[in-house]
This record gives sequence, structure tokens and C-alpha cells, in this order.
Amino acid sequence: MATIAFLLNGAPQRCDVAPDTSILTLLREHLAQTGTKEGCASGDCGACTVAIGELTAGTQAFNSANACITPAHQLQGRHLVTVEGLSEKGHLHPAQEAMIECHGSQCGFCTPGIVMSLFTLHNDLTQRPAPLTPERLEATLGGNLCRCTGYRPIRDAALQMQAIPYQRPQWYDAALPTTENDAQVIDLAGSTAFFAQPTSLKELTQLRQTAPQARLVAGGTDLWLESTQRLANLDQLIDVSRVAELLTVEEATFETQTGWWVGAGVTYTQLEPLFDAHFPAFAHLLHRLGSQQIRNRGTLGGNIANASPIGDTPPVLLALDAQVELASVNGKRYLALEDFFLDYKKTALAADEVVSRIFIPRLPESRQLRVWKLSKRREDDISALLCAFSYRLEQNTLHDVRLALGGMAAIPKRAYDVEAALEGQPVSKAAFRAAQQALAHDFQPMNDVRGSQAYRQQAAANLLERLYLSLSVPNQEVMLHAYAH
Ligand SMILES: Cc1cc2nc3c(=O)[nH]c(=O)nc-3n(C[C@H](O)[C@H](O)[C@H](O)COP(=O)(O)OP(=O)(O)OC[C@H]3O[C@@H](n4cnc5c(N)ncnc54)[C@H](O)[C@@H]3O)c2cc1C
Ligand code: FES
Ligand code: FES
Repeated sequence: MATIAFLLNGAPQRCDVAPDTSILTLLREHLAQTGTKEGCASGDCGACTVAIGELTAGTQAFNSANACITPAHQLQGRHLVTVEGLSEKGHLHPAQEAMIECHGSQCGFCTPGIVMSLFTLHNDLTQRPAPLTPERLEATLGGNLCRCTGYRPIRDAALQMQAIPYQRPQWYDAALPTTENDAQVIDLAGSTAFFAQPTSLKELTQLRQTAPQARLVAGGTDLWLESTQRLANLDQLIDVSRVAELLTVEEATFETQTGWWVGAGVTYTQLEPLFDAHFPAFAHLLHRLGSQQIRNRGTLGGNIANASPIGDTPPVLLALDAQVELASVNGKRYLALEDFFLDYKKTALAADEVVSRIFIPRLPESRQLRVWKLSKRREDDISALLCAFSYRLEQNTLHDVRLALGGMAAIPKRAYDVEAALEGQPVSKAAFRAAQQALAHDFQPMNDVRGSQAYRQQAAANLLERLYLSLSVPNQEVMLHAYAH
């Protein structure tokens, strides 16, 4: 068992949990706190949403998370806030009061999760006052499904809650427990269970060497589904989420390129400022990656190491010529990301290695990046197809074309024949026709629930058409804004 010390709605807790315990199981089965509901157990419905508080720049910031797929041991030294904790001396939280006033609940099953997402929004707006834009509202609620009320009353509640007077409960200021050695490295003598929470890359690589069979967990948003959906045993775990070297973003030069080293454990939410400032097309994609709850927990390293053919970031990173740093007790080695993916879910990562950082080269002003994701739903859905293009346009001629696609092969992959068909060509119908034909040489896509082979082939050709249209008539809107992703 791992012993974790954390705050639950302001009250100190100390619990012993097995490595594969989720926060939802901890709440409902160990602590008899049943306000947090289980809907899907896969991070999709948001019924289990809780808020996790941690100190950021001296203030406690609360982020939403799906309790069903968040490891309980990651609560160590943190503050867990659930729907049971929101009211104070009989006064409801504004999110709860607004939901009642706006008739935002019918059966009520989704309501605790929705209230918790609204709580994080309310807290954020109080700490950093800013207009509540439709995009922000959509981001807050995009990971919460409601089957019976309909979303308009819930949206109304979100818009109204700021006007409701609110006295912060006393627990807001409760001190977080010190992390000491509680959930650090626990090797269970006489049992096969194993859990470690290293804080440095040195410790992590040593553990990786001694226990190569243990699974690494970062945000858990992929890994934990193996437990909840496939009932796999996750009783041997190394948690990488506290490893200092994996949590940094540093501007740097690598070989001849300037750019940023991004720690593998940096979450999507933490990446937003960098992408907003330097990669707007990548930032736009982030808004469509999972939900707010997933973006608060999922990491860039987890997306790459998971090596899914439909992971969203690898095609973009391939188009940007990203590099990966792999670390082991023997030191570090560097690989172009395209050499990292070998075959379906197979990577160049050795059993004793971890992904430690990812280098993202700066996009020169002369270069463009376009990213388009196709999925059945706009919110909280995995790609059927994702295309990332980068190129330099000089006197209407395409140069240094890099095009990578997800969902078209067993791995995220560059389209070398398409690149060759476009390289050095003027933006013309003929060049793009040749590029569309070259797609068939590069890819024989798969059939699956997200799209047939024929759909994928046609959709990829259509995205090349979209690129042609948007380049041939500058500033032309080729799709309605809401769907132009
Ligand atoms: C509801 C839902 C929606 C989602 N939507 C999207 C989406 O739109 N687009 C998308 O791309 N993904 C999506 N995902 C998948 C997932 O959120 C991402 O792949 C995420 O980036 C995984 O990161 P993580 O930190 O949670 O990884 P984890 O689940 O912790 O780990 C994933 C894998 O990587 C390994 N790993 C983690 N860190 C390292 C490391 N440093 N070195 C070596 N191996 C490591 C783990 O052992 C595991 O095998 C979704 C998931 C859910 C549940
Ligand atoms: S129970 Fe559906 S997201 Fe957790
Ligand atoms: S109120 Fe019934 S699911 Fe939302």
C-alpha cells in the first residue's frame, strides 16, 4: 500500500491505497463520499469530475479532473475538492445555486460533475477576472455530458453564477500537507505490488532499470483505461508526475535549431501559453484535444510514448521536425521523432528508458503551420484523421514542405511522396492533383469505427484541397469558422 496525505475539502486525510486505486474508488469505497458519480469510467462523461488544488506561484489553483481515471496516489500533498465540500454553513456555492435557479438539473446524475467544473471556472474567474467568452465556457463544460436536462439551462447557470454573492469557505486557506516521504518509493516486501513516486530523473532512471516491468504513469489518461476498461492489473507503477526534470519548459538551442525543450510530464494545460504565443495552429488543436479535465492531466510525453496512430500531437510534432530525448542510467540519447515510431504501438524506447523531454523547434516567420483534425464530435473526441502541414511560401512557390498524418497508418507518419509532389511547385491545381494522387503511395489506411479506408483516403485528399483553396485565395475562409479546425 502507498500511504498518501492530502486534504479532502479542507480536512487532512491519510490513507493507505493499492497502487491501482483511482480517486473515484478512494472516494466512494474507502471514504464513503458518494457525491462523486461514476458514469463511463473512461474519462468521457465528466460525472466523476473533482477539483484538485495545488500551489502554483504561491496560490492554490484548482483544476478539474476525471476521478475515474486519476490515480489516487497523485493526491499526495494536494487538495481534493468534491461536491460535498462546496457549501458552507448552509450556503450553497454560486455554481450550485445558479444550477437550481436556472433549472440546470433533472435526474441529477451528471450534476455533481457539472457543478465541480463550474466551481473551477468560478474560482479561476475570481482569481483572474476576465470576460467569460463562449470559448472559455465551452472549454469548461466540454467534458461534461448531460443526457436529460439539455445544455441551455446549464450554460445559463454558468453565466449567472458570477453575480451571486459568495463567501469563500474557511477550507480554502487550509495548508497543504507536506509531501515528506509518504508516497515516495514503496517496495512491498513479500508481494508483487510495487509503487514509486520519484522526484528526480536520476531516481526515475534507476527505478526504470531495477523494475523495467513496472508501468510508467504520467497523467494516466491513457494508461488508466487499461484498468477501468480492460480490467488489467496496474499493481506495479512508477509515477513520473513529480520528476522535476520532466516538468520544465526551457527555451534552448539544439544542434543548429532554436526552440523549446518541453518536459515529457508537462500537461496540455501547462503548454497553452507557449503554444498561444508561438504555435497558434497547435494551440487551436489543443482546444479540441480531449476535454478540460483531460488537458489538465494528459501530458505531451504520454501522448508520444503511447504511440497511438490517432494521437493528436505526433503529426504536428513531425511536421515541426521535433526531437525526443530518451534517458536511462547510461545517459541520454536523441532521436528525430519520426525515428521513434516503429510500428503499431511499438517505439524505439528501450525497456530501461523513459521519454524525458521533447524539443520543438521555433517556427520561423517565413514558415506556416496548418493543423486540421477530423472527428465525429467537435468536443472531447479522438481524431479519425489529423493532418499537419508546414511549409514556406516564397513567390507563390512551396518550399521545405513537411506533411504528417495521423489515422492513416499504424503509426503517425510523414507523407514523403506528397511532400515530393509539392516541393518547389507553384500553388496550382496541377501540383495539388499530383499531391492527392501521391497520397495512395504513402498510405493504405485502416478501416475502423472512426472511419473506413475509403473515407480516410478521401478525407485526406480533401484536406489537401482545403490547403490548396486557402493558399490560392489568401484569407479565404474555406469552412464556417466554428468547424474550421
Ligand atoms: C476522454 C479522453 C479523451 C481523449 N482525447 C484525446 C484526444 O483528443 N487526442 C489525443 O491525442 N489523445 C486523447 N486522449 C488520450 C490521452 O489523453 C493522451 O494520449 C495523453 O496525452 C496521454 O498522456 P498521459 O500523461 O495521461 O499518459 P499516461 O496515460 O500516463 O501514459 C500513456 C502511456 O505512456 C507511457 N508513458 C507516460 N509517460 C512516459 C514517459 N515519460 N516515458 C515513457 N513512457 C511514458 C505510459 O507508461 C503509458 O503506456 C483522450 C483520453 C481520454 C480518456
Ligand atoms: S465516470 Fe465518466 S468521466 Fe469518469
Ligand atoms: S440531469 Fe440527468 S444526465 Fe444531466
